[in-house]
Amino acid sequence: MNEAAIIDGKAFAEALRERVGAAVTRLKEDHGLTPGLAVVLVGEDPASQVYVRNKGKQTLEAGMNSFEHKFDETISQQTLLDLIASLNADAAVHGILVQLPLPGHIDEAAVLSAINPDKDVDGFHLINVGKLATGDDSAMVPCTPWGCLMMLKEQLGDLKGMKALVLGRSNIVGKPMAQLLLSQHCTVTIAHSRTENLAAECAAADILVAAVGRAQMVKGDWIKPGATVIDVGINRIDAPERGPGKTRLVGDVDFDEVVKVAGAITPVPGGVGPMTIACLLRNTLAATCLQHGLDVPDV
Ligand code: GUN
Repeated sequence: MNEAAIIDGKAFAEALRERVGAAVTRLKEDHGLTPGLAVVLVGEDPASQVYVRNKGKQTLEAGMNSFEHKFDETISQQTLLDLIASLNADAAVHGILVQLPLPGHIDEAAVLSAINPDKDVDGFHLINVGKLATGDDSAMVPCTPWGCLMMLKEQLGDLKGMKALVLGRSNIVGKPMAQLLLSQHCTVTIAHSRTENLAAECAAADILVAAVGRAQMVKGDWIKPGATVIDVGINRIDAPERGPGKTRLVGDVDFDEVVKVAGAITPVPGGVGPMTIACLLRNTLAATCLQHGLDVPDV
């Protein structure tokens, strides 16, 4: 049997980052503007620390300014809101990202609502959520689902009429992913932990986006032969075969099984992950242009 094509998110993201970098160079030359991205990290979550480090590095590599604000997890909500107010007012900062999750004593919704929607490069502010839901193309679109959509369009071309299943209903991935697929005229189902007969729902899907955070949950016999599978999951599991105490990253999809049935699949790592930061850089570029009344370059 033919194995699925592997969708190379790493290469796709590198190409996108290069195009963003070239547009940043032009923005500097033509308008004397350097996009600036502020990233706020609270606490010591190891995965968040890795993301934030990579974001900072790639922001600089794209020719943008990177501002990092790191806090102990005991920070008060008011201190965080005061910081956001100062970043909103800072003309050198065009994009603001508060790394989630935040510690339990902080009201995440209140923090996200405090960000100026024009600087909301995560697309999590209610204004941007509403714009995406109503099809307003000035929305800042959340980076992970947007990266997924780019890879789907590259792989499949026109998505019109396809049956898409989004597994997971988070505000960060599942819900905006469903909106984006709807905007492409897919017939969209959102499945989640309480969905009955999940395997049958998956088996009907031409496109499956897995974003539930459960290691290797989606099995080969759930998949419609030839379907395109996008795996958003990043789960660390024990890997005794690599030696005592070793671990490895896997997705929400059982790759070894699904690769034998699907038409195309994203690997973990090297699939969705790299696209998220590339889309963040693109959003920061777009936010900079919009804040200065300039057309957004088509990267
Ligand atoms: N935590 C996990 N994914 C994301 C993301 O895309 N943005 C932010 N701000 N936090 C996250």
